[in-house]
Amino acid sequence: MRRKLLVGNWKMNRNPVEADGLAGNLRKLLSEATFADIVVAPPFLSIPAVVSRLKHSNIEVGAQNLHAEASGAFTGEISGEMLKTAGASWCIVGHSERRQLFGEDDRLVSAKVQACLRAGLRPILCVGETLAERDAGQVDAVVSRQVEAVFQKLNAEIAATVTIAYEPVWAIGTGRTASPEQAQEVHATIRGLLAKHFPAFVARTSRILYGGSVKGSNARSLLGQADVDGALVGGASLVPEDFLAIVEGAR
Ligand code: 13P
Repeated sequence: MRRKLLVGNWKMNRNPVEADGLAGNLRKLLSEATFADIVVAPPFLSIPAVVSRLKHSNIEVGAQNLHAEASGAFTGEISGEMLKTAGASWCIVGHSERRQLFGEDDRLVSAKVQACLRAGLRPILCVGETLAERDAGQVDAVVSRQVEAVFQKLNAEIAATVTIAYEPVWAIGTGRTASPEQAQEVHATIRGLLAKHFPAFVARTSRILYGGSVKGSNARSLLGQADVDGALVGGASLVPEDFLAIVEGAR
């Protein structure tokens, strides 16, 4: 059985003071939720406060991005090694906002996943189609391309440690969630890809999360799908009671 994984992506919200408060509330509310793995990903600057507030709790900390290189003349950037030292243990890579607003392509996303692995961070690779791509019948082609660009560089043992998050772009921040059936269909495609390229244990153990307008009201039906192993949550992860309701959907 794959243990469910719930990840809160705070995006560019909560300064260090606010993040400390949110983490404290989450720590209290989620202390009994030991049936699933829980991660929160604050903005870079708020990571130390959140790490400190969540020490010895059941909630781990992740980052939302990193630079592909370990150090050097890259003004304004943050490396995986820095994140790891600051106490992060996970890192989101290739979020659609990074791909769309900051020009990240499959090649860069793959390099960033490699950077995570070198730094000892567990990558959460985001993939997903736009509405135009869905309407054009390109869901499988787009998602397969995004997954294969990264996994072609990984051996089986490492591949099994990479979490994939399927986030249809049209469902992010729009209130328009993929139906459980739509999510399951793409998740099955992704698991099928892993099965095609790697020994069976990779597809069996890898976790594939769904993201895009996940709420307390739809979490249980999404998380009840055979190939949906968790959720990557944006807006609702900033409201402790809402995030709790989502986590409870994994019970
Ligand atoms: P929302 O949950 O706000 O739609 O955001 C999803 C997301 O992008 C998580 O990474």
